[in-house]
Amino acid sequence: MKVLLVGGGGRENAIGEALVRSGAELYVVSKHRNPGLARLAKGYGLAGETDIKKVIEFAKMWGIELAFIGPETPLEKGIVDSFESEGIPAVGPTKEAAQLETNKAFARSLMEEYEIPGRKLFRVFEDVSEMRSWIDDFGRPVVVKPLGLTGGKGVKVVGYQLQDNEEAKAYAEELIQKDGKVLIEERTDGVEFTFQVFTDGKRVLPMPLAQDYPHAYESDEGPITGGMGSYSCSSHVLPFVPREDYEKALETLKATVEAMRKNGTPYKGILYGQFMLSKDGPVIIEYNARFGDPEAMNVLPLLKTSLLEIAEGIVDGNLGRARFENKATVVKYLAPRGYPLNPIKGVKVQVDEKAITKTGAKLYYASIDENFTLLGSRAIAVVGVADTLEEAEKIAQNAIGHVKGELFYRRDVGTKESVEKRIGLMREFGKEFEPNSC
Ligand code: GLY
Repeated sequence: MKVLLVGGGGRENAIGEALVRSGAELYVVSKHRNPGLARLAKGYGLAGETDIKKVIEFAKMWGIELAFIGPETPLEKGIVDSFESEGIPAVGPTKEAAQLETNKAFARSLMEEYEIPGRKLFRVFEDVSEMRSWIDDFGRPVVVKPLGLTGGKGVKVVGYQLQDNEEAKAYAEELIQKDGKVLIEERTDGVEFTFQVFTDGKRVLPMPLAQDYPHAYESDEGPITGGMGSYSCSSHVLPFVPREDYEKALETLKATVEAMRKNGTPYKGILYGQFMLSKDGPVIIEYNARFGDPEAMNVLPLLKTSLLEIAEGIVDGNLGRARFENKATVVKYLAPRGYPLNPIKGVKVQVDEKAITKTGAKLYYASIDENFTLLGSRAIAVVGVADTLEEAEKIAQNAIGHVKGELFYRRDVGTKESVEKRIGLMREFGKEFEPNSC
């Protein structure tokens, strides 16, 4: 089957690999030629992922039978609706359904209306003085969010990016002036984790949990990035997520899909719940309408079921099973020095692919071109897959040594110390539990 993958990052390199592994004839459209995808693809078109007209032209030229959308920006623009109106089924939510990610007020209102578990208190404000007096009356620390996509930037939390509720009010006022609206939520204390599922609009199939490292620097310091790495465990849960909380989080995602159906905005594709595990259970921080990047690189190498079969099940509304190997994974991203604020661009890096293969690690390319020139965002990911987290981390770490250039990475992704830190944090937040092994 001829499958068109839209997008050219590390996430898409992993999706493309899983599609080819399951027998798809792969075609790709993205804004740069990803060297990993270029090797897998029969055809490669260069176009911005949100240039829907061009993407559809490529699809028609190649006689594409199924499209798979990687990033959120084309979903926000309605790429799935456009494919469907051309008679080409596409994996991903329609523009309306993608609002779960692209419109935070939509997501919070849906949770409220359908009483989805794991919701938090929120308000949307257009009026500065109403916003100010609500925050004063509320009294507890808040989170201030722009309503639309911000590429991981824009969300500010009291106690982290904001000193206190006074600063929160000032930032919220700025957003009202800029966007006309702002979302204010109660702050939830805990540790974040990623829960991705496949759904055909009715059935929900879970993938292994993963944990992302969003800060640029070691010890969870520095600016927020798209994610500098992530890990997952052979048990498919995380050391600090007890089984009962896993079940509660899955219930939240199932209830969300059901609510979307009842709401007249049926959701199909990949649904990513970004949860905060609080001492009282999992709470939704955000929904994403696609695989995580890097988290796709944790789960897809473990997928035993054909991704093509799953993709067909999603678009046909008859999703069957999704089985994953019981292995631990560690993804480490190499990013250009200065990323995310002032990244070096236009310089070449050296990747000794043969040596990386010898380490047993998987290699995925992202924001880098076929001449191995850095394009300014996360460039190369290495992935260790093994029976234990310790082994997986070692494999990824050994592979890193075979990439040379103006790059940096986080040594601590998936290490025992960083996992113990997260277990410790959960205990500090008042959760009593016995950690799962990883
Ligand atoms: N790693 C976070 C995301 O994909 O949104």
